[in-house]
Amino acid sequence: MIPQFPILFLLSFSNFLCFSASKTIYEALKSHGLPMGLLPKGIQDYQLDNSGNFTVFLDRECNAKFENELHYDRNVSGTLSYGQIANLTGVAAQDLFLWFPVKGIRVDVPSSGLIYFDVGVVFKQFSVSLFETPRECLAVQPPEAASKSHYGKLRYRRDPRDFGRAIL
Ligand SMILES: *[C@@H]1O[C@H](CO)[C@@H](O)[C@H](O)[C@H]1NC(C)=O
Ligand SMILES: *[C@@H]1O[C@H](CO)[C@@H](O)[C@H](O)[C@H]1NC(C)=O
Ligand SMILES: *[C@@H]1O[C@H](CO)[C@@H](O)[C@H](O)[C@H]1NC(C)=O
Repeated sequence: MIPQFPILFLLSFSNFLCFSASKTIYEALKSHGLPMGLLPKGIQDYQLDNSGNFTVFLDRECNAKFENELHYDRNVSGTLSYGQIANLTGVAAQDLFLWFPVKGIRVDVPSSGLIYFDVGVVFKQFSVSLFETPRECLAVQPPEAASKSHYGKLRYRRDPRDFGRAIL
């Protein structure tokens, strides 16, 4: 039976989205106004509670290539609400060869076509369209994984003795 008014159809369609949000975390992103490609392929399992807190379990630590590269730990968690993810852990973005933990992600409501990554000091701005589909997430090469664990500036905080020696 076809609903008489388009609005009825829309309402039942949005109900359907609410239900299916419990089906996959990608659909949960979508029903919160966020692009599904924020999370990569390779999700083994996830938890999502009523408060929007989620944890996603990937099959391995990996990197996915967008305009910049994103790194995902095996466990990614955050708090999902409409148009944003807060308290994000387990995601880092590469910029100028350094890795910065992404603490939050948000889009404008209504959408401006832009998405913002909170990397602590600044918000990095990208086009939402970059993140429309989940990407392949490639296993991290061991050397890259090693340098990645020293996020951002920490990377330069190496061995102070080298500095001393350089002066002598
Ligand atoms: C959701 O996660 C946040 C941050 O980790 C935490 O402070 C909060 O207590 C959690 N809420 C629930 C209902 O578990
Ligand atoms: C990921 O979460 C699982 C289940 O909570 C836990 O057993 C595991 O230690 C976590 N792994 C990492 C790398 O934090
Ligand atoms: C999680 O995010 C919410 C909303 O931004 C914030 O109020 C809360 O303090 C955060 N919790 C933690 C543990 O960061």
